[in-house]
Amino acid sequence: MNNSETNIEIPSQGVGRENILKEINVLAKDDPDFKNGRTWGLVYYAGDEHSAFLKEVHAQFSSQNALNPTAFKSLKTMENEVIRMTANLFHGDEEVVGTMTSGGTESIMMAVKTYRDRARKLKPWIRNPEIIAPASVHVAFDKACKYFDVKLIHAPLKNDFTVDIKAVKKKIGFNTILLVGSAPQYPHGVVDDIKALSDLGLKKKIPVHVDACLGGFLLPFLEKGGVDIPLFDYRLPGVTSISADLHKYGFTAKGASTITYRSMQYLKHQFFVYENWPGGIFASPAMLGTRSGGPIAAAWATLKAIGQDGYIKSSLEILETTKKLMSAINAIPEMKVIGKPVACVFAYTTTDPKLNIYAIADRLNEKGWHVDRNQRPESLHAMVTIAHKEHIDEFVDAIKEAVDYVKANPEKSKEGNAAMYGMIAKIPLRGMIKSSVLKMMQQMYSAKGTMPDEEELDPNSMEALTQRLGMQAIEVKEQLDGIVSNIKSKLKF
Ligand SMILES: Cc1ncc(COP(=O)(O)O)c(C=O)c1O
Repeated sequence: MNNSETNIEIPSQGVGRENILKEINVLAKDDPDFKNGRTWGLVYYAGDEHSAFLKEVHAQFSSQNALNPTAFKSLKTMENEVIRMTANLFHGDEEVVGTMTSGGTESIMMAVKTYRDRARKLKPWIRNPEIIAPASVHVAFDKACKYFDVKLIHAPLKNDFTVDIKAVKKKIGFNTILLVGSAPQYPHGVVDDIKALSDLGLKKKIPVHVDACLGGFLLPFLEKGGVDIPLFDYRLPGVTSISADLHKYGFTAKGASTITYRSMQYLKHQFFVYENWPGGIFASPAMLGTRSGGPIAAAWATLKAIGQDGYIKSSLEILETTKKLMSAINAIPEMKVIGKPVACVFAYTTTDPKLNIYAIADRLNEKGWHVDRNQRPESLHAMVTIAHKEHIDEFVDAIKEAVDYVKANPEKSKEGNAAMYGMIAKIPLRGMIKSSVLKMMQQMYSAKGTMPDEEELDPNSMEALTQRLGMQAIEVKEQLDGIVSNIKSKLKF
């Protein structure tokens, strides 16, 4: 992506495969070291042995195509079995059906399309369909609703970061076609009250989708391992569908997720059929046309190879590692974990808002730790996997070092990414942020493909303006916050 040359062509003569393999290693040399727990998202690594097995299975099926389910029967069998295993894991009966997809986003896209088309069929008087989901729901719902022209209504969160059920109830109206909850949600790792959503859905006759993309292959195994996990699956009668990613805590190769529904009465609205195409009658179960056999075979093989005993063991280890890390972070006087995360994902921030959490993230990045950043509240994010088990102490030391560094160098809070993310989190004019980010994407996907910080910012560009105005807005807001808290303390609120 990061080429300064624009005149790259396919080599006129093929390059030796040996050389290309060397080149790949050179390209990847600065990538985050996920095998040693340096990434806190993006990669769910289950060790070298499993990885080698995945490669073998994936490679064996990478050319096969699941586009036509009647051609490669092996793939259809594997997909069926993956869906049956998933349905059973979620305590569904034989009525529960579903498809594999390429990832959480596609599963969510399919859920949104399914409920939209179902409402078109069963409730044709609804012209402007609406989905009610927690403010913390994964952004894939915003994307899906945008793509499929459905209005997404965000319900506020309570202090514990779970969705406020009373607020959901109030938002239900004539146009509501679906309620959504997460198990757990991405930003703070908490599980919404799915039982309450299920009850509400039954009462109001509205379907309920559970986004278990993160927890689908972790929470059930924790429960089997004796951990108290709130109900979120088909045991709750109001739950009509569940998205669950195999390529996260299912530990398979990227490109595998599941979307299951309580019955074919829902799934049938997901399918696409076009009978008049000159190329033949076309039918497809989900978004993609050609579907590589690699992820399907790898997912099937992974579920079988790890097995329930393996998943229970890894889930308990992940829980223990998460707890250890959270208590170590809470033991740093300047740091705290936010809310009460249930299992594997959590957010953490500074105890003193003046100590800039994004500057701490910058320092961690400099030291080779790839951390993701949340906003509202400003915090850092961790998705814990088995790969982190042996590296918790190193990471905690790195956080301590970063805290000391930012305290000793307060100017770091106003530089680089810290300044940019600080601005993004606080600036009230969200449209400016959007246009600025769109500009960055255009830059990254331009023929030159440069990363944003490689180019001098044009002082008249929207980005530069956003940064200038953004910093001013933050300074004014901070001053106002200071004045307000001063007055409050004097009035002894
Ligand atoms: C709760 C949740 N839902 C959906 C997704 C989207 O999954 P994907 O990145 O596979 O599209 C994620 C990704 O992290 C997630 O955490």
